[in-house]
Amino acid sequence: MVVKLLKGGRLVAIPTETVYGLAADLFQPEAVQKIFMAKGRPSDNPLIAHISALKQLNNLVMDPSDLFIRLAQRFWPGPLTLIAMRKSEVPPIVSAYLPTIAVRMPSHPCARQIIDAIDSPLAAPSANLSGFPSPTSSDDVLEDFEGCIPAVVDGGICAFGIESTVISLIDEEPRLLRPGAIPREVIEEYLQLKLENARIGGPVLSPGMKYRHYAPKATLTLVETPDQVAEKLHSASTYVPKDLTAKNLYSHLRKADRLGYSEIVIVLDSHIRSDEALMNRLQRACLKETHG
Ligand code: TXA
Ligand code: MG
Repeated sequence: MVVKLLKGGRLVAIPTETVYGLAADLFQPEAVQKIFMAKGRPSDNPLIAHISALKQLNNLVMDPSDLFIRLAQRFWPGPLTLIAMRKSEVPPIVSAYLPTIAVRMPSHPCARQIIDAIDSPLAAPSANLSGFPSPTSSDDVLEDFEGCIPAVVDGGICAFGIESTVISLIDEEPRLLRPGAIPREVIEEYLQLKLENARIGGPVLSPGMKYRHYAPKATLTLVETPDQVAEKLHSASTYVPKDLTAKNLYSHLRKADRLGYSEIVIVLDSHIRSDEALMNRLQRACLKETHG
């Protein structure tokens, strides 16, 4: 049924090892357009192509570099997204009209089976309403999309709970555009080089990174020490997550909203501080500016 829906140009939410994705057949631009509509996603924020076999790169990526191939061989299937120049046959809407394309091969068996079965890459962003926390269970997806999409495939709780690491291979040196499930150090160790950071100013390299994102409805406040939590606890309506990790961040944020808390306070202990991806999501969830 899922294959029939996707082939018919409909959207299906699928599990991956990072977060759930809202998928459409990448080679059907009208289907891809539905992803932007359903999420309320700004049209300048490109999607990730999900593949299940390296041969599917032939229709997506122009001349993958040696670095691309080395990274793919080491980290795929898995939570690493690589950005390279795209082939002209990729519908431009997938990449928000950029000349590049983001690709990853998920390791979740359900995702792989579905991509194998439709025999085409799937375009899929995270399956949440734009700006809100990503979904790490099928219940989270239903919270945002019940009645709006025809199917959610339940593949359990996502193993990583945080999105893939995104690396751009467009410039001479590889750049980390989004810290994620694979730590920067693991990639640097493998490549024996330091990853550049996303460029600040100039052309936006990863459009998704300019928006407030991952944010709960409650006000999120980050504090340095446990004493500061006490100062914030002026009402019964403050949620203080226990044992926060990258894996459980989104489920904590969603839980606080579901239970109607008006404020979430997080103490930035050394565990949190040393996790680049977790710190990135926390800081972006605090930004004041929302997307359009
Ligand atoms: O783990 C993940 O990556 C999940 C699962 C579903 O695979 N997907 C995900 O997709 O997080 P999304 O759309 O929520 O985030 C994709 C990120 C955005 O920051 C977007 O701007 C960036 O990748 N991106 C996509 N294509 C790009 C491109 N051509 N150039 C630069 N950045 C790109
Ligand atoms: Mg997302």
